[in-house]
Amino acid sequence: MRFVPISISLCSFISLRFSSSLPLCKFPKLRKIPYRYRARAVEQAQQALTEYLHMTRYLSFTHAEHISKNSVVSLSDLISRVEFSNSNFFRNFQKFLSYHPINEIEFFFESIGIPPSEINGLLSRHEFFLSEKGNILKVAHVLSAFGFPWNRLGKLYKEEIFSIFGETPDALTVRLNGFREFGFDNVSVAGICLAFPFVLNGNDEVIGQIDALFGDMRRVFLHFGLTSRVEWNVDSWHEICRKIRVFYDLGCEKGKMGELFGRGQNVLLQYSEEFLVQKVEFFCRFDVNKADVALLLLQNPEILNYDLESPLISVLGFLKHIGLSEEQLKFVAHEYPYVLGRNKLSNLPHVMKAVDLHQWFFDKIMNGEHHLLTNFVISSPDEYLENEFNLHLERIQTARNHKYMIGKLEFLLGIGFGENVSTMKVFSSLHGSSVELQERFECLLQQGKPQNDLRASMQH
Ligand SMILES: *[C@@H]1O[C@H](CO)[C@@H](O)[C@H](O)[C@H]1NC(C)=O
Ligand SMILES: *[C@@H]1O[C@H](CO)[C@@H](O)[C@H](O)[C@H]1NC(C)=O
Repeated sequence: MRFVPISISLCSFISLRFSSSLPLCKFPKLRKIPYRYRARAVEQAQQALTEYLHMTRYLSFTHAEHISKNSVVSLSDLISRVEFSNSNFFRNFQKFLSYHPINEIEFFFESIGIPPSEINGLLSRHEFFLSEKGNILKVAHVLSAFGFPWNRLGKLYKEEIFSIFGETPDALTVRLNGFREFGFDNVSVAGICLAFPFVLNGNDEVIGQIDALFGDMRRVFLHFGLTSRVEWNVDSWHEICRKIRVFYDLGCEKGKMGELFGRGQNVLLQYSEEFLVQKVEFFCRFDVNKADVALLLLQNPEILNYDLESPLISVLGFLKHIGLSEEQLKFVAHEYPYVLGRNKLSNLPHVMKAVDLHQWFFDKIMNGEHHLLTNFVISSPDEYLENEFNLHLERIQTARNHKYMIGKLEFLLGIGFGENVSTMKVFSSLHGSSVELQERFECLLQQGKPQNDLRASMQH
């Protein structure tokens, strides 16, 4: 039997904290241990694992600690295999480790932030020790010493697995230091790389893209002073760069965006990534050039404050509001009767597609008339509802399967049908849940069926 000596100084080094934000009651594997001992058992297991990796497996102490502190899921699996006794658990766990070498690669992957559900797909049956994985630990060391948080490295691993982790540590160091020459410090470079992992790709083909991206970054952060408004830590930089990426992902050209981001920096500071994505998706539903959507939002940030979800519109009233003549309105009512009635503003893009005015209306918004989206309020929401429609609606709302029914109605409104008795006729003839109907609709669209033909055919 092999006892690993515990040095006092070593123990006092090990901070008693969990990196995992999950409460321990969420780990079914720990159920055997009485709840009040669980936190302590995990701490002791982390301590024993750190020592094992450091002293038996010769990892540096820092690496050993990063791995053991950031792998609670894998660890709790080990814990469940060791007999628990309140007084002897630490020893039992040490002993267990000395007889059962662990799959270090699995622990490592969890520690760098790869979700446990994805880890199995990355493991190979023949590899067990980190030393068998080429440079992986050395590369992690370079990145971590540069300032990347250990438990974020998985992001890079997933996106640039071969180019970064197959690389020699020296080449990577050279590349990272090179980015500082654009005028950024380690923290900023790490934040930028996490949002744009492609910059770490050693491939010559991306050099132009890298220069263009860092050119934009210099402009927005240094020239327009965004740096002074971002907290000086990797997570804040990563967060703001992810928001910048939302706009690049729409097709904005790298190297040409610095000024626009600089002038629109409040957009990047005030709203969350999720919020921005939601607004972007609304406008993309008009089926317009996505880069135009980016320009629209960056140049007219007030649009982000509009409620584009819940306001109700009367479709005919709205079309009048945005400038259709009496004659054009008559044409719409004749050609596309199913859009008439009330609808939610969130469904506007599909309504406009249904009447084939989506590009025209988006151009109008782009040309400064975005206020059209906000100053149209229908005074009494029921005014535009027909009694007969209301009766149907009430019947749906009180039906036993009302969730299913309402889902179906929302599907119809979502593809441009108005709240109108004629829509109720279509409603009765359609079968399927909203998800099934949506899938069928998208499938037909993908086969190249024009949207309006689909809507029209539903009415027969
Ligand atoms: C920045 O990264 C270099 C490695 O390229 C490292 O030597 C240095 O200590 C880092 N600086 C800070 C402040 O972390
Ligand atoms: C419902 O549709 C019909 C045409 O199918 C139209 O005449 C009527 O005005 C619509 N109702 C509302 C409230 O728009």
